Amino acid sequence: MRKILVASTNPGKLKELREMLAGGIEWVGLSDFPNVGEIEEDGKTFAENARKKAIGYAKATGLWTLADDSGLVVDALNGQPGVKSARFSGVKEANRGLIDHKNMAKVLKLLEGVPREKWTARFMCCLCLASPEKVLIETSGKLEGVIIDKPAGENGFGYDPIFFVPESNKTVAQMTSEEKNAISHRGNAIRSLRTYLEKIL
Ligand code: IMP
Repeated sequence: MRKILVASTNPGKLKELREMLAGGIEWVGLSDFPNVGEIEEDGKTFAENARKKAIGYAKATGLWTLADDSGLVVDALNGQPGVKSARFSGVKEANRGLIDHKNMAKVLKLLEGVPREKWTARFMCCLCLASPEKVLIETSGKLEGVIIDKPAGENGFGYDPIFFVPESNKTVAQMTSEEKNAISHRGNAIRSLRTYLEKIL
Protein backbone atom coordinates (compact mmCIF):
# COMPACT_ATOMS: atom_id res chain seq x y z
CA MET A 1 0.00 0.00 0.00
CA ARG A 2 1.38 3.45 -0.92
CA LYS A 3 2.14 5.61 2.11
CA ILE A 4 1.45 9.34 1.64
CA LEU A 5 2.34 12.11 4.10
CA VAL A 6 -0.11 15.00 4.37
CA ALA A 7 2.02 18.06 5.12
CA SER A 8 -0.29 19.31 7.85
CA THR A 9 -0.84 18.88 11.56
CA ASN A 10 -4.51 19.82 11.10
CA PRO A 11 -6.57 16.68 11.85
CA GLY A 12 -9.52 18.18 9.91
CA LYS A 13 -7.53 18.30 6.67
CA LEU A 14 -6.24 14.76 7.14
CA LYS A 15 -9.79 13.50 7.69
CA GLU A 16 -11.12 15.37 4.62
CA LEU A 17 -8.40 13.90 2.40
CA ARG A 18 -8.90 10.38 3.73
CA GLU A 19 -12.62 10.61 3.04
CA MET A 20 -12.35 12.12 -0.42
CA LEU A 21 -9.35 10.35 -1.95
CA ALA A 22 -8.97 6.85 -3.33
CA GLY A 23 -8.61 3.84 -1.04
CA GLY A 24 -5.41 1.81 -1.08
CA ILE A 25 -3.42 4.63 0.52
CA GLU A 26 -1.96 4.72 4.01
CA TRP A 27 -2.20 8.36 5.14
CA VAL A 28 0.18 9.78 7.73
CA GLY A 29 0.41 13.31 9.14
CA LEU A 30 3.25 15.57 10.23
CA SER A 31 2.54 14.72 13.87
CA ASP A 32 4.01 11.27 13.03
CA PHE A 33 7.34 13.06 12.30
CA PRO A 34 8.06 15.23 15.37
CA ASN A 35 11.72 15.64 14.43
CA VAL A 36 11.12 17.11 10.98
CA GLY A 37 11.52 20.92 11.09
CA GLU A 38 8.82 23.27 9.81
CA ILE A 39 9.04 24.56 6.23
CA GLU A 40 8.23 28.25 5.91
CA GLU A 41 5.33 29.37 3.67
CA ASP A 42 7.07 32.39 2.17
CA GLY A 43 6.07 31.98 -1.50
CA LYS A 44 4.27 34.66 -3.54
CA THR A 45 1.52 32.31 -4.75
CA PHE A 46 -0.57 29.48 -3.31
CA ALA A 47 0.97 27.11 -5.89
CA GLU A 48 4.51 28.09 -4.90
CA ASN A 49 3.81 27.46 -1.20
CA ALA A 50 2.14 24.09 -1.84
CA ARG A 51 5.07 22.98 -4.06
CA LYS A 52 7.69 24.17 -1.57
CA LYS A 53 6.04 22.26 1.29
CA ALA A 54 5.42 19.09 -0.74
CA ILE A 55 9.00 18.85 -2.04
CA GLY A 56 10.56 19.91 1.28
CA TYR A 57 8.71 17.38 3.42
CA ALA A 58 9.10 14.63 0.79
CA LYS A 59 12.88 15.13 0.85
CA ALA A 60 12.92 15.26 4.67
CA THR A 61 10.89 12.05 5.12
CA GLY A 62 11.52 10.06 1.93
CA LEU A 63 7.74 9.76 1.47
CA TRP A 64 5.37 10.92 -1.24
CA THR A 65 3.96 14.12 0.29
CA LEU A 66 0.74 16.04 -0.32
CA ALA A 67 0.72 19.74 0.63
CA ASP A 68 -1.87 22.46 0.21
CA ASP A 69 -2.12 26.21 0.46
CA SER A 70 -5.33 28.17 0.40
CA GLY A 71 -6.78 31.57 1.09
CA LEU A 72 -9.13 34.38 0.20
CA VAL A 73 -8.62 36.64 -2.83
CA VAL A 74 -10.59 39.93 -2.88
CA ASP A 75 -10.60 41.67 -6.28
CA ALA A 76 -10.96 45.24 -4.97
CA LEU A 77 -8.00 44.69 -2.62
CA ASN A 78 -5.67 43.64 -5.46
CA GLY A 79 -5.93 40.00 -4.44
CA GLN A 80 -5.36 40.52 -0.71
CA PRO A 81 -5.33 38.80 1.78
CA GLY A 82 -4.05 36.08 -0.66
CA VAL A 83 -1.11 34.04 0.65
CA LYS A 84 -1.27 36.12 3.84
CA SER A 85 -4.86 35.01 4.62
CA ALA A 86 -4.02 33.12 7.81
CA ARG A 87 -2.09 35.99 9.36
CA PHE A 88 -3.67 39.02 7.63
CA SER A 89 -4.33 41.11 10.74
CA GLY A 90 -0.93 40.25 12.22
CA VAL A 91 -2.62 38.81 15.33
CA LYS A 92 -0.87 35.71 16.63
CA GLU A 93 -3.02 34.83 19.66
CA ALA A 94 -3.54 31.14 20.29
CA ASN A 95 -7.30 31.73 20.07
CA ARG A 96 -8.30 30.83 16.49
CA GLY A 97 -11.72 32.50 16.84
CA LEU A 98 -10.13 35.84 17.72
CA ILE A 99 -7.68 35.63 14.81
CA ASP A 100 -10.55 34.90 12.39
CA HIS A 101 -12.55 37.81 13.82
CA LYS A 102 -9.64 40.29 13.42
CA ASN A 103 -8.81 39.04 9.91
CA MET A 104 -12.45 39.55 8.79
CA ALA A 105 -12.54 42.99 10.44
CA LYS A 106 -9.43 44.02 8.48
CA VAL A 107 -10.94 42.94 5.14
CA LEU A 108 -14.15 44.88 5.90
CA LYS A 109 -12.19 47.96 7.01
CA LEU A 110 -10.18 47.98 3.76
CA LEU A 111 -13.39 47.65 1.72
CA GLU A 112 -14.98 50.71 3.34
CA GLY A 113 -15.81 53.22 0.60
CA VAL A 114 -15.50 50.65 -2.21
CA PRO A 115 -18.80 50.28 -4.14
CA ARG A 116 -20.62 47.04 -3.19
CA GLU A 117 -20.67 45.66 -6.74
CA LYS A 118 -16.87 45.49 -6.53
CA TRP A 119 -16.80 43.27 -3.42
CA THR A 120 -16.27 40.15 -5.54
CA ALA A 121 -13.91 37.50 -4.17
CA ARG A 122 -12.87 33.86 -4.37
CA PHE A 123 -11.44 31.19 -2.15
CA MET A 124 -8.49 29.42 -3.79
CA CYS A 125 -6.74 26.18 -2.97
CA CYS A 126 -3.63 24.67 -4.56
CA LEU A 127 -2.51 21.09 -3.92
CA CYS A 128 0.83 19.53 -4.75
CA LEU A 129 1.85 15.87 -4.50
CA ALA A 130 5.60 15.30 -4.70
CA SER A 131 8.03 12.42 -4.33
CA PRO A 132 11.50 13.20 -2.92
CA GLU A 133 12.66 13.46 -6.55
CA LYS A 134 9.96 15.47 -8.31
CA VAL A 135 6.51 17.04 -8.42
CA LEU A 136 3.97 14.34 -9.35
CA ILE A 137 0.62 16.20 -9.45
CA GLU A 138 -0.49 19.82 -9.05
CA THR A 139 -4.14 20.85 -8.97
CA SER A 140 -6.16 23.87 -7.92
CA GLY A 141 -9.75 24.71 -7.09
CA LYS A 142 -11.76 27.86 -6.47
CA LEU A 143 -15.07 29.06 -5.13
CA GLU A 144 -16.48 32.37 -6.38
CA GLY A 145 -18.51 34.65 -4.13
CA VAL A 146 -18.94 38.15 -2.73
CA ILE A 147 -17.91 39.67 0.58
CA ILE A 148 -20.75 40.86 2.84
CA ASP A 149 -20.33 43.28 5.74
CA LYS A 150 -22.55 41.46 8.25
CA PRO A 151 -21.01 38.11 9.22
CA ALA A 152 -23.59 35.28 9.15
CA GLY A 153 -23.44 31.59 10.15
CA GLU A 154 -21.65 29.55 12.78
CA ASN A 155 -20.06 26.74 10.74
CA GLY A 156 -16.69 26.50 9.03
CA PHE A 157 -13.72 28.71 9.90
CA GLY A 158 -11.65 31.65 8.71
CA TYR A 159 -13.50 34.06 6.41
CA ASP A 160 -16.56 31.79 5.95
CA PRO A 161 -19.06 34.14 7.75
CA ILE A 162 -18.39 37.07 5.36
CA PHE A 163 -18.16 34.98 2.16
CA PHE A 164 -21.57 34.86 0.45
CA VAL A 165 -22.21 32.41 -2.41
CA PRO A 166 -25.02 33.81 -4.63
CA GLU A 167 -25.89 30.39 -6.20
CA SER A 168 -26.46 28.92 -2.73
CA ASN A 169 -28.02 32.13 -1.33
CA LYS A 170 -26.01 31.75 1.89
CA THR A 171 -22.59 32.35 3.38
CA VAL A 172 -20.16 29.44 3.59
CA ALA A 173 -20.56 29.56 7.39
CA GLN A 174 -24.30 28.84 6.88
CA MET A 175 -23.51 25.62 4.95
CA THR A 176 -23.14 22.13 6.40
CA SER A 177 -19.70 20.60 5.85
CA GLU A 178 -21.21 18.33 3.15
CA GLU A 179 -22.66 21.35 1.31
CA LYS A 180 -19.34 23.20 1.60
CA ASN A 181 -17.20 20.25 0.44
CA ALA A 182 -19.42 19.78 -2.63
CA ILE A 183 -18.59 23.26 -3.99
CA SER A 184 -15.52 24.48 -2.11
CA HIS A 185 -12.10 25.41 -3.46
CA ARG A 186 -10.54 22.60 -1.39
CA GLY A 187 -13.21 20.08 -2.45
CA ASN A 188 -12.68 20.97 -6.11
CA ALA A 189 -8.87 20.73 -5.85
CA ILE A 190 -9.13 17.36 -4.08
CA ARG A 191 -11.59 15.94 -6.65
CA SER A 192 -9.29 16.96 -9.46
CA LEU A 193 -6.27 15.43 -7.65
CA ARG A 194 -8.22 12.17 -7.22
CA THR A 195 -8.56 11.76 -10.98
CA TYR A 196 -4.79 11.99 -11.52
CA LEU A 197 -3.87 10.01 -8.41
CA GLU A 198 -5.94 7.01 -9.52
CA LYS A 199 -3.86 6.94 -12.73
CA ILE A 200 -0.43 6.85 -11.05
CA LEU A 201 -1.12 4.56 -8.07
P1 IMP B 1 -4.00 27.34 5.10
O1 IMP B 1 -4.16 26.84 3.70
O2 IMP B 1 -4.34 26.29 6.11
O3 IMP B 1 -2.67 28.00 5.30
O4 IMP B 1 -5.11 28.45 5.33
C1 IMP B 1 -4.95 29.76 4.94
C2 IMP B 1 -6.00 30.68 5.50
O5 IMP B 1 -6.91 31.00 4.45
C3 IMP B 1 -6.86 30.15 6.63
O6 IMP B 1 -6.26 30.38 7.88
C4 IMP B 1 -8.12 30.99 6.45
O7 IMP B 1 -7.95 32.25 7.03
C5 IMP B 1 -8.21 31.15 4.95
N1 IMP B 1 -9.02 30.05 4.37
C6 IMP B 1 -8.60 28.99 3.63
N2 IMP B 1 -9.62 28.18 3.31
C7 IMP B 1 -10.71 28.73 3.88
C8 IMP B 1 -12.08 28.33 3.95
O8 IMP B 1 -12.50 27.29 3.43
N3 IMP B 1 -12.89 29.16 4.63
C9 IMP B 1 -12.48 30.30 5.23
N4 IMP B 1 -11.23 30.70 5.24
C10 IMP B 1 -10.33 29.93 4.55
